[in-house]
This record gives sequence, structure tokens and C-alpha cells, in this order.
Amino acid sequence: MQNYAIVLAAGKGKRMKSSLYKVLHPILGKPMISHVISNLNQTLIDRKIVVIADDAHEIKSLLKDEVEYVIQKERLGTGHAVRMAEVLLENEEGSTLVICGDTPLITKETIKKLFEHHNTKKADVTVLTTIKDDPTGYGRIVRDENDEILKIVEHDDANSSERKIKEINTGTYCFNNKMLFKALKEVNNCNEQNEYYLTDVLEIIKDHNGKACAYITQDVEETLGINDRVRLEQANQILKRRINENLMRNGVTIIDKENTYISPDTTIGQDTIIYPGTICLGKNEIGSHSIIGPHTQLENTKIGNHVKIKQSVLTDSEVGDHTTVGPFAHFRNHSIIGSHVRIGNFVEIKNTTFSNHSNAAHLAYIGDAIIGKKVNMGCGSITVNYDGKDKHQTVIKDNVFVGCNSNLIAPVTVGENAYIAAGSTINRNVPKDALAIARNKQENKEGYAKKYRKK
Ligand code: UD1
Ligand code: CA
Repeated sequence: MQNYAIVLAAGKGKRMKSSLYKVLHPILGKPMISHVISNLNQTLIDRKIVVIADDAHEIKSLLKDEVEYVIQKERLGTGHAVRMAEVLLENEEGSTLVICGDTPLITKETIKKLFEHHNTKKADVTVLTTIKDDPTGYGRIVRDENDEILKIVEHDDANSSERKIKEINTGTYCFNNKMLFKALKEVNNCNEQNEYYLTDVLEIIKDHNGKACAYITQDVEETLGINDRVRLEQANQILKRRINENLMRNGVTIIDKENTYISPDTTIGQDTIIYPGTICLGKNEIGSHSIIGPHTQLENTKIGNHVKIKQSVLTDSEVGDHTTVGPFAHFRNHSIIGSHVRIGNFVEIKNTTFSNHSNAAHLAYIGDAIIGKKVNMGCGSITVNYDGKDKHQTVIKDNVFVGCNSNLIAPVTVGENAYIAAGSTINRNVPKDALAIARNKQENKEGYAKKYRKK
């Protein structure tokens, strides 16, 4: 038997007051809908279908062919939205999870438990519910005297006693697939919002002698539906805490969990310490025994073991073991920094391989370069990589000493063991073992300063 998932994401999310589709708003740097899809990828779902509006190109370019798409041209309600998947799924045997693109905190564990409950109860529909102190805005779960689920009533359609019910519909369900699509044909839009409600399917399935169940999750927080930016901030806080606590339980020290923002796709090894103000976005792999922060931003990076990074920004880059970085360094565009390297204050490294045991301790720009082993890039050394039209490469071989305030005008190669005198502007290759000096000779005018002062 196959398992399917239908993700509802056609709503514009009016309450977000945004030109961006609601499900694309990021939580810890990752678009809402990507959280949902990542979770589904870790459950036993065979096919994922996302319902989108016809102009939702950005969603397609984000998720690419990881999922299948169906288009909902008009936003006529959640029942109508699910029905858009009819063309793909109507005749399939199996179970179908329906989940909203705006409930990104529902965990894979809960999804698995929902499926388990559905299967063991041999249900035709199982609703994921929870108990909320303030159920305003949510659909309410109405049960009969035997505590069996009768129906779901939307907030707007609920009478005053129904509004008192605290058990709510999270918007996540598991269905017998064939029954779902059969029942959807009978859903009408005779309600307060004139919408085709998916929630009406429950009663219809029961009328056809199907079995309806509810699975109550105790974790109220995970069911948060994000309708506006206040809820978006709440989701960021909840996920941040969840991730940080999980890391701490697995041997990472986080000095201040409120001021540390780590994306769900970041792994961190044991005994690494994260100082406040650290932000990890995208996919990062951080080794063990490293010290990150304070005030450091990592995005799509790979950091080795025993690394120290202070007050720095690293994007799409790698750092080897025992290397120290910062304060105030910036690595970007696929820079690969070796091990036992020291990169100090105000050093920018772009699209460069910087090999083991080399240093750039202060004030340097190293772009489009290949730096060998045991190289010293002096204070203020600069690769002049751009001629106003094109970018060119600088190659510096092993054991080179680049004196302070040198310009290396690319394309240029400096051979092994060479020395560049401080203040040189190098525009020709330097042979190995040579000393290159490219600056004006100094002239000392004896007594001139003294005479000048007297005037
Ligand atoms: C829905 C449920 C409600 C539940 C709540 C949980 C219905 C009728 N109500 O209400 O019982 O408590 O979720 O968060 O299902 N969407 C479409 N096309 C549409 C309408 C909606 O794709 O035509 C998508 C939205 O993008 C969103 C999801 O479906 O991701 C839910 O829609 P929304 O309008 O937020 O439903 P709620 O009013 O929150
Ligand atoms: Ca909602």
C-alpha cells in the first residue's frame, strides 16, 4: 500500500501583508514549506503533491522536482484545494496525509504517530487534534456522548457552545485515499465563508459508514498555524528552542539559547561551544571541540574540529581543523581554508583555496586565488583580481612570504619560497626562490626637515 501526502499551499496568506507567498516566508532561514517537505521526506511517504496557485513560480523553483504539483486556480476552500489532486490520486489504493503548508512545526514523529493511529484503528479518516487554551480561529472537534468524533465545525460556523470546545483541528489528517476523493465530490459551500471545507469530508465519510478517529497530540506548540507575522515570530522562537535544546542534549554547549539561531539543517559535533549572537543558516556541518562566536554568521559552511571563529561571516565556504578565524573575517564564494591556518582581523577571502599552515593575520583581500602551504600573507596584502571587466587568478606557491601592503596584479604566479618585499606592486610572475621588489627606491635628504620647520 502506498502513502501519499497532499500539502496545501495555494493560499496567498493575506494576513501576512506581503508580496511573498505565505509558505515561502522563512523560519530560521528556511522557507516554511521546506520545513514541511523535509519532515515528509523523513516519513514513509511515497508521493508528495503540493497544491499551489497558478502564479506560484517561486514555490516551483524552490521545490523543483522534489514534489508533484497541482494548480488551484481559484481559492475556493481547503476541500476544493485537495480535490485538485484528484487527477493524480483518485483511483489509487492507499493512505493520504493532508497537511497545510503553514504548519511547519508539526514533527515527523507526530506524522508517524498519526499514521500508526490511523492504521491500528483501521480508520478511514484520522484527524490530528490538540487542546488549545485559546482555540479562537480554529475548527472545533465535536464529539458525541461516547467521545467519538462527530464533526469539525469552523470557528465562523460554530454556535456559542461549540466555541467553548478546546479541542481543535490542526489541519492535518490521514485519509483512506479512495474514500477521500469520493467524499470530496459531495462537499458543498453552504457555510459562513462560502468555501468548500475539507473538514466536511469527515461527516460525509461517517454517513457512508466509514470510521472517523482523532489522534490528539500533547505538543500544542507544534500545531501552530502561521497566519500572520506575529505567529511567524512565535514559530521562529519555538523552532529555535527546539533545535538548541536538542543540540545541547547531544553534547553541544550553547551559552545563551535565546540568542543563538541555528537552522534545522546544521549539524554540530560534541564539545563545540556556541557563543551568543551566532546565526547558522542553510546547511552547515560543524565539527567537534570548536568554538563559534560570539556574533558569527555561517551559511552553507563546513567547519572542522578544534576551529575557532569569532565575529565573522562565512558563506559557502569550508574551514579545516585547528584553524582560527577572526575577529571580523569574511569568507565567501566557495573559499576553502585548510587546517592550522590563521586568518585574522579584517581579512576577506573570496573563491580561494588557502592551504594548510598559511596565515593572513590582518587586513587583506584574497580573491580568486590559490594559496599554497606555509604562506604568509602580510598585513594589507591584496590580490588585484579585477581589471574592470574580468576576474583573474593569483597563484602563490608553498612557503612564499608576501610582505605588507603588497598588490598582486592578477593573473600572476609567485613561485615556491619566493619573497615579496613590503609595498611592492607585482605585475609579473616571480620565479621560485627569488626576492621581488617593486617600489621606488628611498631617498633621504639630509637636514631638509629641520630647514623646512624653521621657515
Ligand atoms: C483550517 C481548517 C481548520 C483548522 C485550521 C488549522 C478548514 C475548512 N479549516 O482553517 O479547521 O483548525 O486550518 O490551521 O479546512 N488553502 C488552499 N486553497 C484554498 C484554501 C486554503 O490551498 O482554497 C491552503 C492555505 O494555503 C493554507 C491551508 O490551506 O496552507 C489552510 O487554509 P487556511 O485558510 O489557513 O485555513 P484556516 O482558516 O486556518
Ligand atoms: Ca491557517
